[in-house]
Amino acid sequence: MGERYAKIVGWGKYVPERVLSNHDLEQMVDTSDEWITTRTGIKERRIRGPDDTTSSMAVEASKRALEVAGLSPKDIDLIIVATSSPDYLLPSVASIVQDKLGARCGAYTLVAACSGWVYALVDAHQYIANGAYDTILVVGSEIISFAVDYTDRTTCVLFGDGAAAVVLQASEEPAGVLSFELGSDGSGAEFLYVPGCGSANPLNEHTFERREQFIRMNGPEVFKFAVRIIASSLKRVIGKAGLLPDDIALFIPHQANARIIEAAARFMHQPMEKFYINLDRYGNTSAASVPLALVEALEEGRCKPGDKVAMVAFGAGLTWAAAVVQLGTGELSPAYQFFSLGRARYLAKKAAYAVQDAAQAALLPLYTFVQRRGRRKRRRK
Ligand code: UT7
Repeated sequence: MGERYAKIVGWGKYVPERVLSNHDLEQMVDTSDEWITTRTGIKERRIRGPDDTTSSMAVEASKRALEVAGLSPKDIDLIIVATSSPDYLLPSVASIVQDKLGARCGAYTLVAACSGWVYALVDAHQYIANGAYDTILVVGSEIISFAVDYTDRTTCVLFGDGAAAVVLQASEEPAGVLSFELGSDGSGAEFLYVPGCGSANPLNEHTFERREQFIRMNGPEVFKFAVRIIASSLKRVIGKAGLLPDDIALFIPHQANARIIEAAARFMHQPMEKFYINLDRYGNTSAASVPLALVEALEEGRCKPGDKVAMVAFGAGLTWAAAVVQLGTGELSPAYQFFSLGRARYLAKKAAYAVQDAAQAALLPLYTFVQRRGRRKRRRK
């Protein structure tokens, strides 16, 4: 079987209509547009409407991604939804998405906080590269606002809701994930966490009183970690792909804070224009952040077929994930696809073995007869 790559063939996004601006936040907590803009770069973020759920937003983004790919939900072999804000603790939100989409395939939810979608992309790449599946939907969807304390100015200005999805499909064209790195340092768990809600500290009147159902964050610690990890992990994955930072057409960083991205760009000796930013409009959408940036970069033509893009995410855990991804150079002819796709090759090989087996079975009596006659002749001599 030739090498199989997981090419991006479809992409789509969904963001709620409701905009929460810095000026709106000025009315809610002791903050200012000036502080938020200069310390983070964020101007506004989207907040879920009454009908938005993590699954409904994931479904909208996925429908668009399937449209771009020219595929139907029945073509999907697997759905992975990265989120930290599922509809329910159970069932997995990925199963809700699978049902609402009308897909017939396996589905699972992946939790790695803001790094989740890049983790999911790497998972999908493995299934396709090893021949297990041909078409995988990778979604990042978050209603992270449900875990935000709108009385805490140190966190409530940062986060927003959104969703984005990408369809990956098997291809022999060198495209998709060229290299990756997944990381975790759980010793930093308390720098960014939700103390209540989980089995260790279930929700009750005391956890409610202490507002432990909401995100707590040590901003400066996460900031230092982020600056260090973005530049170092990007350098490593770019090296693993046999490339140099100059070979990367566009960097797609997690959209947490423009100052973090600027610092990383300096460490990388790369111009800021090569770093895609949409956090001014959406804030930090957690696991939806990197795919939302990727989808908008594709929609705006900021990256084109054949380009190599480098993605990097970081977040609670602490976790991080980076990947170099090459964009496909366009559709291959159906005939080429038929002969190059692993499954077609496998079927062709299987058919060839079947013919061989049949031929052997048919020739076996003749072979045995010739062998026996040879032995008899030898004995007579
Ligand atoms: O997906 C991962 C998610 N998390 C992150 O990426 C967060 C990374 N960290 C950050 O982005 C930054 O640390 C923050 C934006 C969260 C904070 O910026 P900072 O420059 O690190 O500020 P700070 O926490 O050191 O606080 C500086 C001052 C403090 O006042 P005092 O103690 O100096 O009087 C804060 O109370 O700014 C104050 N402050 C605010 N003032 C106005 C904190 N939040 C606000 C606010 N408005 N919203």
